[in-house]
Amino acid sequence: MLIDTYGRVATDLRVSLTDRCNLRCTYCMPEEGLQWLAKPDLLTDDEIVRLVGIAVTRLGITEVRFTGGEPLLRPGLVSLVERCAALRPRPRISLTTNGIGLARTAPALAAAGLDRVNVSLDTLRPDVFQRLTRRKRHQDVLDGLAAARTAGLTPVKINAVLMSGINDDEAPGLLAWALDHGYELRFIEQMPLDAQHGWRRDGMITAADILASLRTRFTLTPEDAGERGAAPAERWLVDGGPGRVGVIASVTRPFCGACDRTRLTADGQIRNCLFAREESDLRAALRSGATDEELAERWKRAMHGKKAGSGLDDPAFLQPQRPMSAIGG
Ligand code: GTP
Ligand code: 5AD
Ligand code: SF4
Repeated sequence: MLIDTYGRVATDLRVSLTDRCNLRCTYCMPEEGLQWLAKPDLLTDDEIVRLVGIAVTRLGITEVRFTGGEPLLRPGLVSLVERCAALRPRPRISLTTNGIGLARTAPALAAAGLDRVNVSLDTLRPDVFQRLTRRKRHQDVLDGLAAARTAGLTPVKINAVLMSGINDDEAPGLLAWALDHGYELRFIEQMPLDAQHGWRRDGMITAADILASLRTRFTLTPEDAGERGAAPAERWLVDGGPGRVGVIASVTRPFCGACDRTRLTADGQIRNCLFAREESDLRAALRSGATDEELAERWKRAMHGKKAGSGLDDPAFLQPQRPMSAIGG
C-alpha cells in the first residue's frame, strides 16, 4: 500500500508516456517547444509494464491513467494499454489527451482495453483554438471526441482552461455544446506549472468566476458531496440534471487532503505530488537490477514523505522544476 504520513492512500497512478506534444498551448509551453527528453532516458514499454504490474500487484493501485505531454504520440500506446489490461487484478485504464489523432486510434484503444478518455478542449472557435494552441487542429479534436464517444470510451470528459481575454467568455457556450453532445465538461483553474513561468494569481480565472459565468445561463446545484471521493473535480447538476459540469479548482479550493495519486514520469521518476520539488529515481534502480520487491519498497518510501498540500498558498511557493508537460498533469 502507498500510504503517507497523513494517512492518505494512493490508489491512482498517472503514467506520463512522453514529454512531447503536437500543440503549443500558451498556458503550458512556449512556441518553440521545450528541451525534450532523449530516447534512452524514456522508460521502455517493457519497463512501464513491469512498473505498472508492481503497482497493481504489490501496491494497491486500481486506476492507471496514461498522460503526456501527448500520450498518443507514443508509438506503442495501443500495446501498452493491452498489456496493462492483461494485468491481474485488472486496473481501470484511462487516457488524458489533446485529442489529436484520437479519431484514428479510438477503436483500437477501446479494443485493447482502454476504459475512458479525458480530452482537452478550451474553445469552440477555430480562430481562438489557433491562438491558444498555436496550431490549426480544432477539427481534429472535435473528430477525436466524437470517435471516443462512438468507441464507447465513456464517460468522455472534456477539460477546459479559461484564459482571461482569450476564451473566458466561452463557459456557458462550451457547457451547452458539451451537454448537447453527451460529453462531461470540467473547467480547470490555470495552475503555475507552465514552462515559461508566466502564471499570475491575479490574472487567472477562478472557480468563482466560472460559476458566476455559468449561472448567467444555467441553474447549478451542487452534487452530493459524498460522491466526490478523491476526484479533483467538484460537480454541479445543470438545470436539475442529469447533465453535469465540474470545476477543478486546484488554486482556490485545493483538494490535497483527499489526494489519492502517485505519478510516474516518462523518464521513470516517482513524484508524490504534482507540485513536488523532489522525485525518486525508479529508473536507476530498475536499470541496475533491482527486484520487484526492492522497486516496490522504493516507491513506498517515495510516497511516504508526501507533503500535506501543494504549497500554492505559501508566500514562498516555488514552481516545480519540471513543467506540467513533463509531469503529466
Ligand atoms: P478523472 O478520473 O476523470 O476525474 O481524471 P482527472 O481529472 O484526475 O484527470 P485529468 O488528467 O483529466 O486531469 C484534469 C486536471 O486535473 C489536470 O489539470 C490535472 O493537472 C489536474 N489534476 C489531476 N490530478 C491532480 C492532483 O493530484 N492535484 C491537482 N492539484 N490537480 C490534479
Ligand atoms: N493549468 C491548468 N491546467 C493545465 N493543463 C495544462 N497546463 C495547465 C495549467 N498550467 C491542462 C490541459 C489538460 C490537463 C491535463 O491539464 O489542458 O486538459
Ligand atoms: Fe495533488 Fe499534490 Fe495537491 Fe496532492 S498535494 S492534491 S498530489 S497537487
